[in-house]
Amino acid sequence: MTDLSVLVLVVIILGLIAVYAIRLKAVPMPTLSKAAAEIIAYIPADTKAVTDFGSGWGDLVIAIARARPDVSVTGIELSPVPYAISRMRAVLAAKPNLTLIRADFRKLDRDPGDVVVCFIDPRVMGDVGDVLSQRMRDGGVVISRGFAIPGWQAFGEVPMKAGPDRLYLYRMGSHKPG
Ligand SMILES: C[S@@+](CC[C@H](N)C(=O)[O-])C[C@H]1O[C@@H](n2cnc3c(N)ncnc32)[C@H](O)[C@@H]1O
Repeated sequence: MTDLSVLVLVVIILGLIAVYAIRLKAVPMPTLSKAAAEIIAYIPADTKAVTDFGSGWGDLVIAIARARPDVSVTGIELSPVPYAISRMRAVLAAKPNLTLIRADFRKLDRDPGDVVVCFIDPRVMGDVGDVLSQRMRDGGVVISRGFAIPGWQAFGEVPMKAGPDRLYLYRMGSHKPG
């Protein structure tokens, strides 16, 4: 490969990441291991299925799949570069309980399971609430890193030890005030 073709490839990859970050209003920032451990601690013991809305490079879903082999873990990611990297990392991690889907979580007609985790821009949190209201069963738990779902009532709001973010915890069925 010539220097020029490497440069062109790098520009295409960075361009793709930027275009999708603007389109989705979300930068693919990963949840690193300490923060992931804090999120995992709030996944109830009897959970069967967890979905990450916007699974990025795969950090959080791989950490959950490792920590909870008893749980079926699904990551949904639309941005092609983080998705491709997460697929490669999933192959290396070799976790049979991990599935990655390239899709827009707003359009994917799929049961998200008992627990949804997310770490998405505040401009997208209204969409997260709308999708969950349509697809998640009562009793399901939502763990949002950093941002609240507008109009929803959290049963917990926990400052994270790993950084300045809070975790917002919701339970479907009692997520609306009043
Ligand atoms: C801050 S990253 C979080 C990644 C991962 N959840 C983690 O904690 O390591 C948010 C991701 O959500 C993705 N995203 C945003 N809107 C989305 C949508 N509508 N459908 C699928 N993915 C989306 C972005 O592309 C980005 O990779």
